Amino acid sequence: MNVETPVYITTPLYYVNDELHIGHATTTLYADTLARFWRACGRPVLFLTGSDEHGQKIHKAATAAGTTPKAFADRIVGKFFELWERLDIQYDIFIRTTDDFHKRAVQALFTRLRDAGHIRKDRYNALYCVDCETNYTEKDLVEGKCPIHKTTPQQVSEENYFFALSRFTQPLLEHIAKFPDCIVPEPRRNEIVGKLKDGLNDISVTRTTFDWGVPLPWEPQHVIWVWWDALVNYISGLGWPDAQGLPTDAIAGRSRHGHEPVRAPFAHWWPHAVHLVGKDILWHHSVVWWSQLLGAGVNPPRQVFAHGWWQVEGDKMSKTLGNVIRPLEIADKYGRDALRWHVLREGPAKGDADWRQAAFITRYNADLANGLGNLVNRSLTMLGKYFAGKVPAEVAFEQPALERARRDIIARVNALYARMVAAVTAFDLDGACEAVFELVRETNAFVNNAAPFKLAKDPARANDLQASMHTLCQVCFVLCHALRAFLPDASARIADQLGIKAEGRLEAVLRWNAFAPGHTIVGPQPLFARLETGGA
Ligand code: MSP
Repeated sequence: MNVETPVYITTPLYYVNDELHIGHATTTLYADTLARFWRACGRPVLFLTGSDEHGQKIHKAATAAGTTPKAFADRIVGKFFELWERLDIQYDIFIRTTDDFHKRAVQALFTRLRDAGHIRKDRYNALYCVDCETNYTEKDLVEGKCPIHKTTPQQVSEENYFFALSRFTQPLLEHIAKFPDCIVPEPRRNEIVGKLKDGLNDISVTRTTFDWGVPLPWEPQHVIWVWWDALVNYISGLGWPDAQGLPTDAIAGRSRHGHEPVRAPFAHWWPHAVHLVGKDILWHHSVVWWSQLLGAGVNPPRQVFAHGWWQVEGDKMSKTLGNVIRPLEIADKYGRDALRWHVLREGPAKGDADWRQAAFITRYNADLANGLGNLVNRSLTMLGKYFAGKVPAEVAFEQPALERARRDIIARVNALYARMVAAVTAFDLDGACEAVFELVRETNAFVNNAAPFKLAKDPARANDLQASMHTLCQVCFVLCHALRAFLPDASARIADQLGIKAEGRLEAVLRWNAFAPGHTIVGPQPLFARLETGGA
């Protein structure tokens, strides 16, 4: 991976019909982790998220709440902002589909598609699921019900504008054949290819039965289908159709990443776009979206990564079952790093996953309390005791077995950067975490074997004590940096204890001896308190 190549990371725009749950937070945490990791590598990153505010679903929720869709959206979007702030999600752009610049881009795209001859008027007879905001054919239904929500879809019949999706079957198959990693992981790509081979039907892309949406420029009694509108955010957020990029005042004050994004030409970011989505909306993000783009003469994004779904203790997560996991409740109780860690390590990146409380506690105790926390704490405590908190100079062990163990640790540290880059490039965030935790476990075993607390009692072993403590200092320093994207709070706290700043390119700091001898640390503070097993 060339870390000079920019990357443009996006999450779905979540519907503002309800508060967000762990499923939504998962995609966003994956995106935030990718963004932080690549930034730490020095790669130019643009991270976009936002809210999907139009369509029947929002209209219905607003009506039920006795308010207007816009007032309703404003209220819920406020909760999105609060959630992302409290989870410290560092996006550059937050886009709302009710933003004027977005609506103009949607209209411009639609007009282009009409001018290119891909749009026609026709009668629309369909089965529409409002929860998916998507229409289905009889064949898609399972026992007459929506395959995702298990509800009976509406029968709809109106005269609408249609998009000639069927024309794109072949171009899409060719695109996927040419860029095999444009849909990852591979089984998801195969699903899409399978469906494409069955052929595509043209789709209805406007509605006249309600008005909460972007009006068609030449026939405003039609509003544009909510998906057709929302997907455009990925380019309207870059200022499209203006090749110069989004004027910075368009979304002023809506960045959580330290600085407001700098205006950059569309061509700077778009070829490097990576959409993170859940498996249920992969179809929209590949087939539907890419056809829109191809029809308008814009290249598809670089990649779509589709993750699986969470279940909860073996059941579907649903309000009806009352088992919805709310990310803030978890973060408030256990800390946001603990939440993030569970998502990264146990989450549905490769397939579906099960959120289990017992697994949460086990993972937390093993990795965070007994693994990382214990290692850093005992290392820094001993450094304070034996070297007055000062990083000692490097010496080799006199004892051969310990010297071999030290050399293994050095090799692992020096290989870490490349391993992490390879894992993150493959969207294997769990793999990147595991690479770091192999170092944690190996070093904890090293502490037990070297037993610096025993060496300290024997003046003849002063050299080996120094070798032990030099090793532990280097490892703590490397862990602090390696975890910047994965456990940002713990990383910042380790940095405070070490008396360093968690900054600088990872390639330069994930190296043996990057922690200078002679530096005096601030001192240890507990990182993660152990949780009682079986305790809530
Ligand atoms: N508004 C559309 C996206 C438009 S993007 C241009 C939408 N929004 S949503 O609010 O329904 O959020 C969907 C996201 O949440 C998807 O990525 C979906 O996979 C994810 N999840 C919803 N429930 C989930 C789980 N139980 N587990 C994991 N993710 C799940 O769709």
